[in-house]
Amino acid sequence: MHPNSTAAIRGGEWSSTDVEVTRALGRALGRAANPGTVLALIGPLGAGKTQLAKGVADGLEVIGVVNSPTFILMNEHPGRLRMYHIDAYRLGDPEEAVAAGLLDERQVDGVTVIEWADRLTGWLPPERLEIELMPGAGEGERTLRWSAHGASHERLARRVGDLAS
Ligand SMILES: Nc1ncnc2c1ncn2[C@@H]1O[C@H](COP(=O)(O)OP(=O)(O)OP(=O)(O)O)[C@@H](O)[C@H]1O
Ligand SMILES: [Mg+2]
Repeated sequence: MHPNSTAAIRGGEWSSTDVEVTRALGRALGRAANPGTVLALIGPLGAGKTQLAKGVADGLEVIGVVNSPTFILMNEHPGRLRMYHIDAYRLGDPEEAVAAGLLDERQVDGVTVIEWADRLTGWLPPERLEIELMPGAGEGERTLRWSAHGASHERLARRVGDLAS
């Protein structure tokens, strides 16, 4: 590898057959998450991004209901680690998000989950786990394709894969 090139992006896939499997994957992510974990969720309407986020919240021992923060853009939930839940769906442009303090350095103390992360392309933290949720042929089928940016997020993804398999 050229010394100046960025580290290779590693990836893999998990498959889900129903909402409970997606929740369990989220729980495993939440349990294994570290301070500074960033989960960038991508996928069409109804793909399961919020269901995955609810699982992450469970795994982080967040008390209470975690819903998509569609109108307020970001919710904060105390837990084993603080969860910052962002939904970029209604964002006009990424600079607006940065201006609004949606992505903030203090999030390194907790776990940031971003729905519609593709709307923040170019502004996302460099170290992150991207998870693309793709609906399959059957009603409950989803493929979750992950790509890790940075070694700690790759370790996280591999640990979750081990738990889920
Ligand atoms: N395998 C699965 N994983 C997740 N959700 C599933 C699955 N199978 C069916 N579903 C259903 O799909 C829907 C997913 O809704 P969810 O709110 O999580 O989607 P979303 O990606 O957050 O959409 P939006 O972009 O509108 O916020 C739920 O109604 C859930 O019950
Ligand atoms: Mg959602």
